[in-house]
Amino acid sequence: MTELDEPLDLPDGSEALAVKSDGQIDSSHEDLRVAVLTGLARRPRSIPCRFFYDAVGAELFEQITRLEEYYPTRTETALLETYGADIAESVGLPRVLVEFGSGSSRKTSLLIDALGEVPAYIPIDISAESLQSAAAWLSARHVGLPILPLIADFTKTCTLPKIAERHARLGYFSGSTIGNLTHEEAKIFLASAARLLGKGSAFLIGVDLKKDLSILLPAYDDGAGVTAAFNLNLLERINRELDGDFELKRFAHEAIYNDRAGRIEIYIVSLANQVVHVDGHAFAFAKGERIHTENSHKYTVAEFQALAHSGGWSPAKVWVDPANLFSLHLLRL
Ligand code: AVI
Repeated sequence: MTELDEPLDLPDGSEALAVKSDGQIDSSHEDLRVAVLTGLARRPRSIPCRFFYDAVGAELFEQITRLEEYYPTRTETALLETYGADIAESVGLPRVLVEFGSGSSRKTSLLIDALGEVPAYIPIDISAESLQSAAAWLSARHVGLPILPLIADFTKTCTLPKIAERHARLGYFSGSTIGNLTHEEAKIFLASAARLLGKGSAFLIGVDLKKDLSILLPAYDDGAGVTAAFNLNLLERINRELDGDFELKRFAHEAIYNDRAGRIEIYIVSLANQVVHVDGHAFAFAKGERIHTENSHKYTVAEFQALAHSGGWSPAKVWVDPANLFSLHLLRL
């Protein structure tokens, strides 16, 4: 057992690999282990939000998207339903559709319907399972559409299949997932998407707007406690996968709006002075001490257009719902 919160000697996450019982290399387990142990040892403590999405977390997120308080999913869906024809006209040319992150197949299906002729659909995601289920769902609805899933971390460099070279390309990044990146990460992502999609491409991005806190805060702290369960599932995941002993009732979910940074911040708060063990390491928590688990940046239309510009894209058109909740940006290269 390591001493309480002593400096940890861990490999660089990108090089760290574990071997599973079937002999396969399991980089994701080691990625989680390194991120959790280093994140709990640093001050302020933090764990990257990508670790929310194990099977339980992905299902809880699906439930969040259906909550009354969580307006982004239904508002973006309504934008696609209302302005689909206008979006298709603005996109122009038949384009290969390249989706970053698995996204909701329902929104993608609406976009494909609106676009009409789509030479191929290339979903990019790190999770083989979510790619498989999204591809199965979509191929049943769009018979004859070539679907070429790409298992890759879309924040890193990857290469598109050959078919993408024969057509113009449209990138799609839905759900305001771009808001979960810092401004710098978002700029880097936009620039690498520009390199991947190439000259003449278009990019459709769903972006959550700045708004009154009476709407924003309940979206991240709903009455039924689904978002709390989603956040605290991270501790359950650590217990399950990293031999942790977090007692869930001794921690709570917290969502605040950081006005200066223009973002929702999500935390797990310790409700008592306590010591927790993870993978043989001990961590002492003071009552009230927090683990930062997510940022969700909100943008005005002008702020996002400036960000798009910094990533090499020219804003072409934007669609916003009548209540000014959510925006869909069309960018060009
Ligand atoms: C995936 N992402 C865009 C969601 C958001 O709104 O930032 C994740 C989420 N976290 C809590 N509720 C939803």
